[in-house]
This record gives sequence, C-alpha cells and structure tokens, in this order.
Amino acid sequence: MKRKFFPAAIAAALWPSVSALPAQTPAVVAPAAIQTQARESPLFSARGSQFADSVLKLMTLDEKIGQLNQSPGEGSQTGPRVPVGGEALIRAGRIGSFLGIWGADYTRGLQRVATQESRLRIPLLFAMDVIHGFRTIYPVPLAEAASFDPARVEFSARQAAVEATAHGLHWTFAPMVDIARDPRWGRIVEGAGEDPYLGSSMSAARVRGFQGGDSALSIGAPDALLATVKHFAAYGGAEGGRDYNSVELTERTLWETYLPPYEAAVRAGVAFVMASFNDIGGTPSHASDWLFGDVLRQRWGFRGAVVSDWGGISELIPHGVAANRGEAGILGLRAGIDIDMSDNVYIDSLGAAVRSGKIPQALVDSAVHRVLRIKYALGLFQDPYRFNDVARERRYTLAAEHLVASRLAAREAIVLLKNSSKTLPLRKDTHTIAVIGPLADDRRSSLGGWAADGHPDETLTVLAGVRAAVGPSVKVIYARGSPVDTADTTGLAAARDAAAQADAIVLVLGETESMSSEASSRSSIELPGLQLELARAVLRAARRSTAFVQTDTTPKPVAVVLMNGRPLAIPELAREAPAIIESWFLGSQHGAAVADVLFGDYNPGGKLPVTFPRVTGQIPIYYNHRNTGRPSDTANHYTSKYLDLPSSPLFPFGYGLSYTTFAYSNLHLSSATIAAGDSLEVSVDVKNSGDRGGDEVVQLYVRDDVASVEEPVKRLVGFQRIASRAGDTRTVTFRIRPQSLALYDRQMRRVVEPGTFTVFVGTSSDDVLTAHFTVTGDVLVLASPPTRFR
Ligand code: NOJ
Repeated sequence: MKRKFFPAAIAAALWPSVSALPAQTPAVVAPAAIQTQARESPLFSARGSQFADSVLKLMTLDEKIGQLNQSPGEGSQTGPRVPVGGEALIRAGRIGSFLGIWGADYTRGLQRVATQESRLRIPLLFAMDVIHGFRTIYPVPLAEAASFDPARVEFSARQAAVEATAHGLHWTFAPMVDIARDPRWGRIVEGAGEDPYLGSSMSAARVRGFQGGDSALSIGAPDALLATVKHFAAYGGAEGGRDYNSVELTERTLWETYLPPYEAAVRAGVAFVMASFNDIGGTPSHASDWLFGDVLRQRWGFRGAVVSDWGGISELIPHGVAANRGEAGILGLRAGIDIDMSDNVYIDSLGAAVRSGKIPQALVDSAVHRVLRIKYALGLFQDPYRFNDVARERRYTLAAEHLVASRLAAREAIVLLKNSSKTLPLRKDTHTIAVIGPLADDRRSSLGGWAADGHPDETLTVLAGVRAAVGPSVKVIYARGSPVDTADTTGLAAARDAAAQADAIVLVLGETESMSSEASSRSSIELPGLQLELARAVLRAARRSTAFVQTDTTPKPVAVVLMNGRPLAIPELAREAPAIIESWFLGSQHGAAVADVLFGDYNPGGKLPVTFPRVTGQIPIYYNHRNTGRPSDTANHYTSKYLDLPSSPLFPFGYGLSYTTFAYSNLHLSSATIAAGDSLEVSVDVKNSGDRGGDEVVQLYVRDDVASVEEPVKRLVGFQRIASRAGDTRTVTFRIRPQSLALYDRQMRRVVEPGTFTVFVGTSSDDVLTAHFTVTGDVLVLASPPTRFR
C-alpha cells in the first residue's frame, strides 16, 4: 500500500487540546447536506424512473446483466486497483459497480472509461465497507452503541460519509444491525448488541448519518453516501456463535427481536439491503423470496436495491439448494437479489438463463431499473465526476473537526465497570505511571476491525494517550507483559518491576482487533493467553509495594483498561482489580479518549449494550429473556439455573458507572389507566447526587404482565442520555406509545392487549424503579400477521 500523507498539521490535530473540546454531550447538529433537501427522495423520483426506462430500452441483455455485476478491487503498492482486464470489462459494459476501490483521482479515471469508452456511457458506482469511519476512524459500532447517544452516532456516520465521498465513494456496506445474543460470534463487534430497541435507534441514526438526513432526501448531494443495512436476516443468530452458521429461530423471535433494526433502517430510507450468508431453518437468505419479497418489499415497502453478500449466491451450492452456478443465479435473482457481489454468477449465467426461458427477462429488467435509478439519483448521469474532487479529498481527509468528533464519540463510548474506593480518576501530579499490557501500545487494535483506510500510524494508543495527558514531568514506564494470546512468560518479570516502581498502574488487557469481526468467532470469551496471569502478577506487585493490603483495593491505584470487540468473561478480574474501564476499540483517538477518562478530564457515562456473562458456558444470557414457569430461585432446587453458577450475569445490559452518582426518585405515570391505543407519559427525577458533573443514560423498560403469549421479563422502550452538574436534579420524561406496548399474539398479529403493565425506569436493566398501569378496552390490532415464513 502507498504511504499516505500525514502532514504536520494533521499530526497536531491528533492532539486537540482537552480544554478546546466542547462540554459533555454537546448538542450535535448534523451539517446540512451540500444541496438543499428535496421533498421527495431523488432515489424514488418519477424522473429517475422515466430515465431508467429510457436507458433500459437501449440496452442489450449483456449490458443489463453488467449493471448487476459488482467487482472487487485489488490491493497494490499504490492503493486499491481494478484487477487485470478490469478496464476492458468496463468498456464492454460488463461491470456496474466496484467495491473496495477509492481515491478521487483514480476513480475519476475509471469513471472516464465507463462514461466515454463504453457504448452506453453508464457511470459506475464505487462501494466500500465504511463501517466506523473512512480515514478518520470512530469507535467500533458496538462501542458507539454503548454511548446510547443516537445523535452522536449519526454525527460520526455523517463525517465518515463526508470523508468517504471525498475519496470518490458513493456507497457503504453499513450499518450492520444484526442482533447478537452470543458473544462467541466475532461479528457482534459490528452491531449494536443484544437489544432490538437500542439496535433500531442506532440503525436509523447511522442510515441518517451516512445518507445525510432522513428518508434518503439528501441523496444526490455530493457528501451523501448510500447506506446498506445488513445482513438480512438474522445473521447474528448463528448457532453456537460460529460465523456463517445456520440460524434456528421461531418466527416470533425473528419478528420480535431480529427484524426490528432492519425495518428501522428501511423506515429511515436506506438505499440498499444486503443479504446474509446464513440460512434460517433451511432457507438460505440468498434464496429467500419471502425475506426480500414478502417482508422487505411488501410488508415494509422497501424501494431501494438488494446486494448479495460476497460470494453469497454461489454459496447456494454448498448450502445444498442449487446444483450449479446457473441454478444459484436463478435462485438469487428470483429471491430478489439485484446485485451480485464478487461472485460473477450473474455475469456468467443469467444471459443463458434468460435466453433459454428459465427466468423472465422482466426480472433482470427490474433489477437493472433499480440500479439505474440509483445512479441517476446520485446525479452521475449529469456529471459522473461529482464525487471526484481532489480538493475535497484533501480538505476532509483526517480533518481536524473529524478527529475532534472521533475523540468525543470515543469518550462517550467508554463504560466504567468498576471503581472501588474511587481509584479513578488517577492524579496527573504523580511521579511515575506504569502502562502495562500487550494492547497498551497496539495501534492496529486501537483502530478496531473494518478500519477502511484508517492508518495505524495515525492512531493514538493508551500509552500515547497517557504520555500526552501527564506531560513530560511525569515518568511513564511501559511494559508489554505477556503477549495477547500466547504462553510466552518472558515479559512478566519486567511487568512486575514496572508495577512495583510506579505510583499508579494502567493495565491494558483484552483482545486484538482480529479476534472479533468476520470469521473471528471464539469458543471461549475468557481473557486470551496469559493475560490473567499478567493481571495477577501486576496486582500482587502493586499490593506488595504499598503499605496496606486489601482484596480489591490498594493505595497504589491500578486501573484495568479493557480492549475488546465482544463481552469478556472476567469474573476474577472483576473481583480483584480496583478499577476497570471498558474501552472496546475506539478508533483514531482511542488513547486520547481513554486518557481523558483515566485522569478525570471526562466523566464516563457509557452503558453496556450487551450482557457480560460470568463464563462462556452461561451463553446465551440476555436481559430480555422470558420468565419461564420456574424462574431461577436459589432457594428452590427445581428452578431454571445452573448448579455451579449464579443466574445473574457478571455485568447486565445497560450497566455502567460514573465518577458521580445518580439518585432516581418520583417515578410518575400520567395516568394509572389508559385505553388501548392511547399513550402514557412517564417521568422520573434524576439527581446528580455526587460531587461532579456527568452523563447518565436513563433507561425505560416495560412488561405486559399477563398476556396471550409469554413476554420478556422487561423490554427497553426508551432511553435518554442526559448531562447534569453536581447537585442538579433533572426531570426526565418519556412517552410510551402503543407500539411500545405491542406484542405478536398467537396469530402473529401485532396487538396491544388489555391488562396490567409494569414500567421500569433506572440506571441499568437490573437497577430500576417500578410503577404499574392498566390498559383497558378491547385488544387493539396494530398490524395484521405477516405471511408465514417459508
Ligand atoms: C463480507 C461481509 O459479510 C460483508 O459484511 C461485507 O460488506 C462484504 N464482505 C464486503 O466486504
């Protein structure tokens, strides 16, 4: 890969001074798209449709199929390039889009070949996995979900879109919104965790951010990036957490838990949907006309286009539902997959399938129509070079305002898991700080997986962050300790020495970025390698070298910083370490944000978007489980539990501490009784009862106490991240609408059933105040049953 520029101005910008950062939770105003917003999305305009009709009439069958063919770029010394022979294919009209190719100048050259040297001069689309930033990298999606701040998440996506479009990109394969209840699954890092409501909020926020506003209204602005919701559907339900594995789900769980975040993206106007690699109960998604036809287009009214996942169409052969590539292509197109990613199945076989009458030409036409409409909406037929502005590329690459926002997002994503005896924040006016651990100076891992064009050498590690925060007067010693995942013990002695010498210790432990993400499932979610040994050695050395010894506290502060892309089972660490912060993978500003929290320049307010089990064997464990007929009861042997484990998780969903404390009181409902179809207002007083300002995520859950089907013990239906000063009391108000009270009844109708409901409001899913109300009248039907899964 080419060494990209990293001028001094950018180096300076990597260190925006803390005092220049806005206060906590600033109001985030997404920049207006460059064009004024239309009232109707250009994606669905009548003119675009007429234009697509007129182009279709001119096209040969092969040219049409070319529009459905997406080709991958290849890495080279000078950056991503088209594979050998690629330009000839563009000239012949055999490629409609590329993935993984960017650069304002380079893509301009390819666009020139397409629009000047091919017969019909149809412009190309350039797509890429811009998952959590393009060159400026923001926290991984699981971390961003921990902020419980959709406005912040929208803003990160907005800036990512600005940067990506400046590099010639039109389209991203994000957001990934797969609900995951099994942290062995490595791709849990790419989504928003276990909860459908939080997942839906994040899904819609990221679509709005990428596309520059709601309902795809800004598509056509040169800084609006087409979004793709993925992976449709239920990819996160992989059995055993093994990537690409089969999914076994009831229709109820599919509709209640897995489908809502995709629907939220569709409602927000997402342009594309990507199919998932998995099958659900024997039907592979890439062959499911139920998913793409009945659910996506008919029930949800989706009008964008569908793209396969990489090679997903030909994988219908190993799935065992197609005998050969020809059959796979027919199944894919019939299911509703418009664009074939990197598989060459459509280009190789659809022509013959149409000519022999195995598939109607009209199916090809409607897929091509959608692709042409999208190209038209981007304005590429008017000016194919609208996204090829080298000046914009220079202006927005690692722009100072992007780095600042990345740091703000990173701080918000951090979750304080433990803080015995106010170990944190650490003092800066100390003599020696030891930064220990295999991840403490790991730039690549700080960025997180799917880091697009993010460069490790433009990333701040925890070590760099601590050094910068304390300045030259404090001695910072660094010891790697043990590697992340081998049995090498050679570094333990140096780690012990460092711990003994220092006045404060920052111990960075967890997983490398490559241990989560695609094809990175783990059978155990415990700390890998010898890291627990390392932690024991460091804690022992810290205790020995101080005056008093207590179990989980010592006058010599030890703060564990976790870096990981999934929940980790760390019961011993949670018991023994005085303080733990969960930092996930925070992107370009990882170390700066962690240092902000370690030294109290920022008071952490993130909450867990996913349950942390005690051990791997406790999986699946999630807060919104059903009660069962025999809920866990330690006093009763014959109840649902393990003999060798408490039933509670290590850390529950929604959990996270602060350097201040919050006291909840006066939970109030606007009415004790409402008619089905009415809304209800819930308010609660949240007092900042500690001694400093801070953020709190106020969470609202409900339960239908007695229903026709068994409801989860509680379901998140609202949250607000608020900021308050020490001593302040804020009254937080939520409105509960019928949708929040609805369930799928036995006929799979979406209904509100009369009866009593419990409202829970609090600081975490297991620390809440409760109140009750009654819904009167008849069952209210909000939606008729979907067609049966097939
Ligand atoms: C396969 C992954 O499953 C998908 O998420 C990604 O967008 C594509 N590869 C393209 O990189």
